Parts: sequence; C-alpha cells; structure tokens
Amino acid sequence: MAGDYEIIHHTYDVVVVGAGGAGLRATFGMAEKGLSTACITKVFPTRSHTVAAQGGMSASLGNMGPDDWRWHMYDTVKGSDWLGDQDAIEYMCREAVPAVIELEHYGVPFSRTDDGRIYQRPFGGMTTNYGEGIAQRTCAAADRTGHAILHTLYQQALKHHAEFYIEYFAIDLIMQDGACRGVVAWDLATGALHVFRARTVVLASGGYGRTYFSCTSAHTCTGDGNAMVLRAGLPLQDMEFVQFHPTGIYGSGALITEGVRGEGGYLTNAQGERFMERYAPNAKDLASRDVVSRAMTIEINEGRGVGAEKDHIYLHLEHLGPEVINERLPGIAESARVFAGVDVTREPIPVLPTVHYNMGGIPTNYHGEVVILKNGDPDSVVPGLMAIGEAACVSVHGANRLGSNSLLDIVVFGRAAALRCAETLDTDAVQAPLPQAETDAIIEHFDKVRYADGGTPTAELRARMQRAMQTHGAVFRTGDLLQEGVEKLTAIRQDFADVKVTDRSLIWNTDLVETLELENLIAQAVVTLCGAANRTESRGGHAREDFPERDDDNWMKHTLAWYDADGNVRIDYRPVHMNTLSDEIDPIPPKARVY
Ligand code: FUM
Repeated sequence: MAGDYEIIHHTYDVVVVGAGGAGLRATFGMAEKGLSTACITKVFPTRSHTVAAQGGMSASLGNMGPDDWRWHMYDTVKGSDWLGDQDAIEYMCREAVPAVIELEHYGVPFSRTDDGRIYQRPFGGMTTNYGEGIAQRTCAAADRTGHAILHTLYQQALKHHAEFYIEYFAIDLIMQDGACRGVVAWDLATGALHVFRARTVVLASGGYGRTYFSCTSAHTCTGDGNAMVLRAGLPLQDMEFVQFHPTGIYGSGALITEGVRGEGGYLTNAQGERFMERYAPNAKDLASRDVVSRAMTIEINEGRGVGAEKDHIYLHLEHLGPEVINERLPGIAESARVFAGVDVTREPIPVLPTVHYNMGGIPTNYHGEVVILKNGDPDSVVPGLMAIGEAACVSVHGANRLGSNSLLDIVVFGRAAALRCAETLDTDAVQAPLPQAETDAIIEHFDKVRYADGGTPTAELRARMQRAMQTHGAVFRTGDLLQEGVEKLTAIRQDFADVKVTDRSLIWNTDLVETLELENLIAQAVVTLCGAANRTESRGGHAREDFPERDDDNWMKHTLAWYDADGNVRIDYRPVHMNTLSDEIDPIPPKARVY
C-alpha cells in the first residue's frame, strides 16, 4: 500500500456523507431509529451550503389561501418539463405538509401571519387549481430559511446522539461485487485516514455548482459524492440540466432570493420595461426560473441590457417600502449593500442569471436507494448505497426545479432514507471484513494526487474549467458550442495529469483538498457537457438554439452517463416514471408549457 498513513477503522450501521439539510435530516432520523450512525462532513455542519438558502420551503399548508398537494404536484411535474418521476413527485408533495409541521415542532423559527400561522409567500411556478391562480405556498423564515432549518436539524442530530466526523474529506466509496461496503475519509485536522465500514452509505454531498465561474453555490459545492459514484463505475443521471437562478448579483453571483419577486419585486430592461409581461403574460416575473433566465438573456443579447456594457438587468423592490423589506427581506438588503453597493429602498439591484442548482445527480428511487440499469431493469437497487438532496437525482425536479422545492426535497428524502434503512437493515447480521485491495487502491490514488508534481497549478486548471463551463454550458446552447466545450474539457482532463500540488503535508492541506475537489469537478463538468451535446431537444434548463422544441417522442427519458478512468463517457437511458403512487391523482400527461 502507498505511503505511510495512520489508518483508523470504524464500523457503523449507516454512514452519511454530508451535513447539509439532507444529510442532517437523514443522520438524526437514522439515530432516532436506533441505528448506529456517523456523519462525515468537510465543513462544520452549520456552514453547509443549506445555510445559504433564502426564500423558503414549499408545502401546500394553505395558510394564505386555498391549496392542495395535488396542485403542488401538478406545478412540479409541469416545472420539470415532464422529466420528473411522478411517483417521487407525488411522495414529495404529499409529505411536504407533515414535513413542515415536523420542522415547526423541532423549533424552526418560521415567520408568522398576524394570526400566528406559518407565513407563506408566492414563488415561481407555484399555482392554485392546476395553473389558474398564484399560490402562496413557500414557507419562509424571513429570507434566511435555510439558515433556520439547518441549525434546527443540527440541534436534533445532537439531541439524538449521532456521531459527527467534522472537517473530514470523503475520498472514495469502498465497493465490492457491485455493492457499497463503506467509505474512506481524510481527517483534515490530524492527517489520519479513516476507513468506515457500514451497512449503508448515504451520499448527501450536495451539488457541483463550482464547475462554473459564476454561481450562487459555496466554494465547497464540488459534488464530491457524485464524483465518487463515477469512480465507482456507476452512472450519473440528467447532468445536462443545470439551473440558472435569474437573480444573482451582477459581478459576484451572490443570490438574491426569488422571494423578492414573490413579495412584489420585478425586473426591468434598459428601456424601463417590465419585459416579463411579454414572455409570460400570466406568471410574469413569477414564471419558472428557466423561463425568466432565458428571457433575461434574450433581453441582454438583443441590446436591452442595463449598465455601461448593457450586460445585466435591474431588479426593483424600492416600491415595497422599508417596512416590508426589513421584515421579509433583511438578508438581501444586506447582500445588495455589500456586494453591489445598492440601497434597495432607493435603487434597483443589478442582476444576472447565475448557476444555482444541479437537477442531475446520482439516480435514486423515492426511498433514496441508488438505482442503476442492470440486466434490462432500469430500477435495479445498488446494495448499500443511497443518495439524497442535490447530490441525488430522485428525480423530483426533472429538467427544471421550482424555487423552494429544494428545501422540501432535502427534508422529505432525508427522512425517507432514514425510514428505509430502519425498515431494511438487519442490524444483527455480522458485517464482513472490508476488501483490502479496494481500500488500498483508494489510498494509492489519494497518494498519487498528494505527490502530483507537474507544472500546472490547481488554480490555473480550475479557472480554465470554470471559464469553459461558463461559455459552453450556458443558458442557451448549440451543438457546435457544446462540442467545442467537450473538446476543451477533454484537454483540461488530460492536463490534470500535469497538476502540481505544492504542499505535501496532511494537516490542513488546502492545496491537496482543492486538487481532489478539482478532480471531482472535472469529471462532472465532462459528463454535463457530453450529456448536453447528446440531448438534441430543448427541455427545462437545457435550451438548444439548434433544437428549440421539446421532443417527447425521442427524449422523454433520463440520461445516464458513465465516466471511465480514461475520461471516456458512455451514455444510456432510463425511462421517466409516469406512474403515481396512489389513485388520489392520475399521472399528469405531457403538454406544452404555457405561462
Ligand atoms: O430564490 C431563492 O430563495 C432560492 C430558493 C431555491 O432555490 O429553492
């Protein structure tokens, strides 16, 4: 075995990788059910990216007007542009109401209506009565909902005595005969390597927004779990679907919540025109994110952008008045001041569509179990492996996620994973010894990256990848643009062989962390652009100028993409689940999206 490493062994029923909302909900759910549970996280739990979620969590509570989980399901299927799995969407929308009430009981400090109920605001694509009216469905804690939820979930995890391995970097999955047996992680503080044996590993490692130059994602959003899955020889699903949030602050990309438009904010172009009225006459500024991002991009491309370079758009909330802003949107007032030098009570915020969310990820069923296409079965479960949250592709978001369905997804499927493990794991069975050769191979790979001695600094290669993704995986795509992007990324992947790690130590070695993260990001960038080049239609967040129509006959299917050790990508497909779970709603057939 490579190197001279201190290796510490552990055995648990369940190991959760990631301590954002999904990871924490799964962690304490497992512990609550009596499963010995460890949570490995590369950042302190309350610094996980869920903390940055602003606008809220959807649930058809009906506190501000009539609502129904079926309307929520209809909106989510339509928002997904019919790529979402309808069984999973039904599960999520039904479970939303008890999930929010449960959070309230755990202590989440939701904003309140005058009569003391949970406050709910309108969000894009959320309607009443199957598209007729605007629903107020998004439960908010001012504009810091993710912060409030994350802290509460961490408190619950501590209460249930889950064990945390904080500031540990998960390196790779230990696979044996097609099953996951554990995971290897590096303790950033001591330098020791930890080998975790578990009946189930749950990947809750978030999205990979940092493949792009401008994104709302934290620098830690490098999709480490997704990359581990690719290295384990398993595919990722629907990676071509990347969501651009319409309102990232121009320049920094910092998020300005959709809740601003939910509270009555609106967008204008250089002529002062509320242009969304032209693109989405009904929903206007509250159309779904793919629609608004495309409209903004068209306005800019046709010369109606604002600013000296005519390259962005204005978001107005001056008219809301200081009272509403201070009560409902205090965080964004601060972000606008810090990142754009703007006083939102007087001036509009300069904004631009910015990468925000990955609809694609690790394919799972609605229990959180990872599934693969095996022997003709598209729903074959990978033993010992689960994925939840943004790392997963359940797929409840399909080709485009509705705002506020993400906080919902993480809580509902974090809980679902815990319920499934409680139901299926045989805690009396003896866990077999881990395969030594697989563990050694993981450590050898880690050692190789640690001693990488080429001529290219990590930061230089990362900048090339991020620029390539920004240019070639943009809001609007064409076959030629994507092909050129695939070629650039292939070169970047090859140049990773020439990367240089300067710091060889094992203690707080951010040089090595960033290099391992870069390797992870490159793999995901490659499958994203290959999937996008392969999908010759427009659907949700994937807008092909050369194939402007949605093509249900040929493309209402999930992309599966494998990535081998030489960087070759192989593509296959899984069918979309058009079935519902109960007879309380019929499957929602595909139709054109009208706004
Ligand atoms: O705009 C927002 O507050 C983001 C919410 C979301 O992505 O769900």
